[in-house]
Amino acid sequence: MKKVAVNIAERSYKIMLDQHILMSVGKQVQTFLKKGNKVALLVSKTVKKLYSERVIRSLITSGYDVDVFLIPSGEDNKNLTSVSELYDKLIKNAYDRSCLILALGGGIVGDISGFVASSLYRGLPFVQLPTTLLSQVDSSVGGKVGVNHAQGKNLIGAFYQPKAVLIDPTVLKTLEVRELICGYGEILKYGFIRDASFLQTCLDNKETIFELKDMELVSEIIRRSVEIKAEIVSEDEKEAGVRMYLNFGHTIGHAIEKSCGYGNFLHGEAVILGMCAALKISIERLGLDAEKGAAAIESLSKIKLGYDINVMDIDNAIMALMHDKKIRDGKLNFVLLNDIGSPEIVNDVTPEMVRETLVWLKECYTNGADL
Ligand SMILES: NC(=O)c1ccc[n+]([C@@H]2O[C@H](COP(=O)([O-])OP(=O)(O)OC[C@H]3O[C@@H](n4cnc5c(N)ncnc54)[C@H](O)[C@@H]3O)[C@@H](O)[C@H]2O)c1
Ligand SMILES: [Zn+2]
Repeated sequence: MKKVAVNIAERSYKIMLDQHILMSVGKQVQTFLKKGNKVALLVSKTVKKLYSERVIRSLITSGYDVDVFLIPSGEDNKNLTSVSELYDKLIKNAYDRSCLILALGGGIVGDISGFVASSLYRGLPFVQLPTTLLSQVDSSVGGKVGVNHAQGKNLIGAFYQPKAVLIDPTVLKTLEVRELICGYGEILKYGFIRDASFLQTCLDNKETIFELKDMELVSEIIRRSVEIKAEIVSEDEKEAGVRMYLNFGHTIGHAIEKSCGYGNFLHGEAVILGMCAALKISIERLGLDAEKGAAAIESLSKIKLGYDINVMDIDNAIMALMHDKKIRDGKLNFVLLNDIGSPEIVNDVTPEMVRETLVWLKECYTNGADL
């Protein structure tokens, strides 16, 4: 069993990672949940079919009373309507603050369940059982929970830490490769901002990761990713400083994701493109070593994406960029790299510079990287 601590005073918790840990969820929650208490298992239809049985069995064996509540899949359902429906069901079933909310699924289930847990009765204990690579390395760690608003993604939410996060890497075997690539994009992000040798290991073992043949290696890569995120969140829970480094690749990534129409590029794919752009700007603006930058861009540009960047309208992307949450006082806040593992926040990147970079990015994905 691998363990990573998130240290945030009385809100501290452990992330536990082990193959087949879903079969011992009941035992794992005993440290903070009394026998006989009620557990609400929140899950999507797909994941329920695949993995709920083993979780329920484990909870019942440990003496808990379990109800299963379905959460509709898809980003379109990550909204206040889903939250409100869950409030109704939990209140109707006599849930109170002695009960536990368990989120079994990807980032969408985790974000909705966490928000319900943070707000119903001013907070119920909450545990994440992430089942996508992206949710295992990113969304389940750090306590950001929330839902979308018609005006934008993740506009409604809270910082609410779980009691524990239990990660079972074996469930990744049923995940589509495209979803694995999204998680891989966020994993590379940790390498870029904190750990050059980890980044190299991840780049060198791309195929092995996607094939999921070496589960020990995959587990270690998940562990290190979670460790980096946990360190950053422990230092800066509410994103006033270093947590902003986690936005590496996200400023342009979000603009690409939005301007191409949500769902065309998946989030992690757009982040991969955003990291290419941020590397290019880092070379020009911060003097990141051009050879290192070019090598990283070349590796990133070989990752297979599910949509074509050439379809993107650059004007639309710039417009999306100007509406980003990361704009403060009319200035674009960019996470750039002085070196691999050494990020810096820069606020003088102009929309013109981004425009030139997007033109280059399209070219780079058509005819190969040329710096
Ligand atoms: N809270 C945060 O800090 C944070 C960070 C990053 C992303 N997010 C959010 O996470 C969401 C994306 O999460 P995601 O990428 O996990 O997508 P997702 O939750 O939509 O899951 C992707 C798909 O995989 C299916 N699935 C899940 N686990 C599976 C498994 N083991 N086998 C087969 N299919 C499986 C799901 O049913 C779904 O169809 C977005 O809403 C994003 O805003 C939140
Ligand atoms: Zn992301």
